[in-house]
Amino acid sequence: DKIQQLLQKAVAAKQNAYAPYSHYQVGAAVLSDKGNIYASCNVENISFPCGVCAEAGAISAMVAAGDKHIKSILIVSNGSDLVYPCGACLQRIAEFGNKNTTIYLAEDKGICKTYQLADLLPHNFETKDLTHE
Ligand code: THU
Repeated sequence: DKIQQLLQKAVAAKQNAYAPYSHYQVGAAVLSDKGNIYASCNVENISFPCGVCAEAGAISAMVAAGDKHIKSILIVSNGSDLVYPCGACLQRIAEFGNKNTTIYLAEDKGICKTYQLADLLPHNFETKDLTHE
């Protein structure tokens, strides 16, 4: 099913992680509301702050393909602990998801924890003062 595909694509992306500095490889896969899957990995840089998280890459791929709504996102790493999205990535997920967007934390062999965005980011920056459309 779609969740199994999310896992497969995130694990495959993780194999391509460019993490020569941290050696911490991360893969992320986004399922859009249209049923499409976008995956990416972390891409580090010798100028450390230029590094990009796996989640950010997957969300950018989704937006570039014309999708705008995240139904769920799965994150997997090569670390011994589950990887929780960083604060900045939670805000990125909030931009294209909603309180109920599902966040799966996985190991290569399967999903270990399931959250809704509101569990990990109960409040996020949002204001009607910055209008759009
Ligand atoms: N990283 C991610 O790609 N996603 C996360 O949710 C946490 C951290 C990356 C950034 C950096 O390349 C490496 O993991 C170590 O921080």
